[in-house]
Amino acid sequence: MQIPDYVHHTRLRQWVEEMVALCKPDQVHWCDGSQSEYDALCQLLVENGTFTRLNPELRPNSYLARSDPDDVARTEDRTFICSLSKQDAGPTNNWVDPRKMHKILNGLFDGCMRGRTMYVMPFSMGPVGSPLSYLGVELSDSAYVAVHMRIMTRMGRAVCDVLGADAPFVPAVHSVGQPLEPGQADVPWPCNNANKYIVHFPEERAIWSFGSGYGGNALLGKKCFALRIASNIARDEGWLAEHMAIIGVQAPDGEKTYVTAAFPSACGKTNFAMLIPPPALGDWKVTTVGDDIAWMKVGDDGQVYAINPEAGIFGVAPGTNVESNPNAMATIARNALFTNVALTPDGDVWWEDMTPTPPPALIDWHGNPWTPASKEKAAHPNARFTAPASQCPSIDPDWENPRGVPIRAFIFGGRRRNVMPLVLHTFNWPYGVYFAATMASETTAAATGKVGEVRRDPMAMLPFCGYHMASYFNHWLQFGRALSNPPRIFLVNWFRKDKDEHFLWKGYGENMRILQWIVGRARTRSSGVEMGLGRVPTYADIDWRGMEDFTPEQFEQVMSIDTELWKQEILSHDELFMKLYDRLPKELLSVRDLLLSSLWSEPEWKDRQE
Ligand code: GTP
Ligand code: SPV
Ligand code: MN
Repeated sequence: MQIPDYVHHTRLRQWVEEMVALCKPDQVHWCDGSQSEYDALCQLLVENGTFTRLNPELRPNSYLARSDPDDVARTEDRTFICSLSKQDAGPTNNWVDPRKMHKILNGLFDGCMRGRTMYVMPFSMGPVGSPLSYLGVELSDSAYVAVHMRIMTRMGRAVCDVLGADAPFVPAVHSVGQPLEPGQADVPWPCNNANKYIVHFPEERAIWSFGSGYGGNALLGKKCFALRIASNIARDEGWLAEHMAIIGVQAPDGEKTYVTAAFPSACGKTNFAMLIPPPALGDWKVTTVGDDIAWMKVGDDGQVYAINPEAGIFGVAPGTNVESNPNAMATIARNALFTNVALTPDGDVWWEDMTPTPPPALIDWHGNPWTPASKEKAAHPNARFTAPASQCPSIDPDWENPRGVPIRAFIFGGRRRNVMPLVLHTFNWPYGVYFAATMASETTAAATGKVGEVRRDPMAMLPFCGYHMASYFNHWLQFGRALSNPPRIFLVNWFRKDKDEHFLWKGYGENMRILQWIVGRARTRSSGVEMGLGRVPTYADIDWRGMEDFTPEQFEQVMSIDTELWKQEILSHDELFMKLYDRLPKELLSVRDLLLSSLWSEPEWKDRQE
């Protein structure tokens, strides 16, 4: 193996040599991250049948991939946190003894890259050289992964300069788990559905992923590093690694407020991050710093500063259109990769709700002919687009600021047909942490398994927290104590429904009205009324210009707090607390009791407004 002469890192050179000896690839390709390398790899993927080049007039420099039908989303049941002690992984993570897991992986990885090329990808999570950034190196036998890593991270030669001779890095090895015998033909989407392992060793800060080529299972900088491993680093170093979008909100007077939004997978972070305010509201502007992950540290001034560790957007395609998210549509107009969407006869892409009426004929995500009469969906519900964040029209001028942007509010929100009101401002940090910790959401297609079931998803981190969830709650409480001006904590729910399953709230751009109230509260705390769970806006506190048809009665419905449902809700928090009892911070139980006590004495919310 030829190691490029710009690689001076002894441990990196050794590790790659060891992994080459184990995985036995036919070739090793050190990625320099250049455009010409990207173009050549895309061409190779076209020749292998993985990529279809899209019509360059309609979608310049863009490609479509169709995955194996059983490799379409993250596999949470095959994801492991192999800390030295089982207790450290906690009851919400799958755990296997790390010695045992290393044995399993050494067996699986032995010769797993035969007949394939190993791509060596040095990458930076966060701007190259930023004090808030961390480095990793992914080894993968998938060119699909290599081109995605170039979009999603800062990848290539420049990172080797920062690595120098001995900078720390997270080693991350990935294989599709389908070696090729001499002469054996490859398939467009190699994977190993019988044997998937997405494994994290928190103490070693190492990642091993086997058998899947999809999304967070394979692009190891994202969930594996930037959340599961980084949450461990963050706990040890006193910062936060979170599943949050980061946005800037600019008021007509020019004042800018940065906030983050933690919504579970496929619950609207990308939409919220690229929100376009309704023009009737005046000169408000929303800018995008990140759409999926936030790394946050305390600055010298005691404020929270956030960076987006990613460089690209890996967004849910279905539902994205010029109405729901025009900025996303512009972001993916060129230089974009698409996975599991449908192909139009003229060589462009389509997915459910991209246009009001579907085209008369398509090739669906399985590669089969499709018409609007077909029973199956044309695109998989977790079909995704991948494009550089820099192409987003609303990208914030400071999105690559190495010091990050100052955060004034944390917004938490799940997908709840009932129980949770449209918006709520929690009383203070411990109350906010309580509500974030007990957040629940209906499951989505972003992970394999059942869709639509309500489950607790603390801080939208259930699948991503790399250690004991209750220690993580404690870390949140401690983090707040270090702040001179802690961000205010809000809850939102865009997904309230009536009895007939219709959304009670229009959502998307209209969410700006709620965001305005949030930003105002975060700055001045001057509007709204207090009730048992926190502060809420009255109808008069929201700017309804351009949406005057939304009545006070409708608002009351979407804000309503059903005391009986809430008593049940708080009882079911106990189920989570019981599960986490061995490490649960005692404050959370105190907050639970105070909430119960105030619910008991609370008049109906609507009576409270008078
Ligand atoms: P990950 O990338 O999986 O972490 O998810 P994300 O949070 O970025 O999800 P995304 O923004 O792609 O969410 C897409 C889903 O949320 C689609 O089903 C949208 O229809 C839905 N969605 C987003 N915003 C709203 C909203 O304001 N109201 C309603 N009803 N649905 C919304
Ligand atoms: C999520 O599931 O939260 C995602 C997509 O952002 S993936 O990168 O596949 O995890
Ligand atoms: Mn996500």
